Amino acid sequence: MKKYTDIPDIENPKQLIAEAIQLKKDPFAFETLGKHKTLVMLFFNSSLRTRLSTEKAAKNLGMQVMILNVNDTWNLEFEDGTVMNLNTSEHIKEAAQVISQYADVIAVRAFPTLTDKTKDESEYILNSFVKYATAPIVNMESATAHPLQALTDAITIEELKTKQKPKVVLSWAPHIKALPQAVANSFVKMMQEVDVDFSITHPKGYDLDTNITKDVSVNYNQEEALKDADFVYVKNWSSYNNYGEVLSKDESWMITKDKIGDAKFMHCLPVRRNVVVEDAVLDSDQSVVIEEANNRTFAAQIVFKKILEKL
Ligand code: CP
Repeated sequence: MKKYTDIPDIENPKQLIAEAIQLKKDPFAFETLGKHKTLVMLFFNSSLRTRLSTEKAAKNLGMQVMILNVNDTWNLEFEDGTVMNLNTSEHIKEAAQVISQYADVIAVRAFPTLTDKTKDESEYILNSFVKYATAPIVNMESATAHPLQALTDAITIEELKTKQKPKVVLSWAPHIKALPQAVANSFVKMMQEVDVDFSITHPKGYDLDTNITKDVSVNYNQEEALKDADFVYVKNWSSYNNYGEVLSKDESWMITKDKIGDAKFMHCLPVRRNVVVEDAVLDSDQSVVIEEANNRTFAAQIVFKKILEKL
């Protein structure tokens, strides 16, 4: 693997999921693979799970890790040919090349603006690193994608499924803020790569990018969609067509114990209790969010292993 910026970078998703599950059984099996190799993690935005699990994954492979909160450093310029006489101090061309001298792998987290769809869809931050850095780039959640989370989710479903082809439903849930589509996008892409009966439910106006959902079934009736589900993956996202807008805060879309039946409850976290999901679900045995967060380590670790093997 030369980079991991989105799901198509995985050559064989089912095999990678199986290898991650194997690695989880013996996390230090390749503890010298990353010896004298350095991961530089760049955070343009906050993180709890991604930050800690990705560092742990790299360390399990013997890598050294350096972390930079980009907002603590010089304001970066991403436009080509611009006159830098305003508030940006360093161009990404230099920054990416400089960081590449310290790093064998660079991981980047950079959320969308949610106001400029064209700019967000260009993935200008992530793709500038791909363009100007000489080290492989790993996406720790970008404007439109969160592929480490999606790999984690697929690992979790594979581990916990009790039938060959479980029914998996991605359900929108309400939130007070406008959130990105990144987690949902990557989950949808990943579910199209594995053996599941997959569908999406959300209120009208919340359709995701149809280039991503393709022919995945969408049901605007949540109760109907969740019927007999084995896994309910819950996530809020803002409108894609009315880009970045919160069109609904309809509390009736909150996930409740009644709604999910016997299904496992999945969420990438962080989650707002009793807004997105009621306590009775999150505190029940049906919630697998903690196991899911644990699997973030092994998703990142299998990705780093594949990248280190190609260095
Ligand atoms: N799920 C996830 O990416 O969590 P963090 O934002 O805390 O990293």
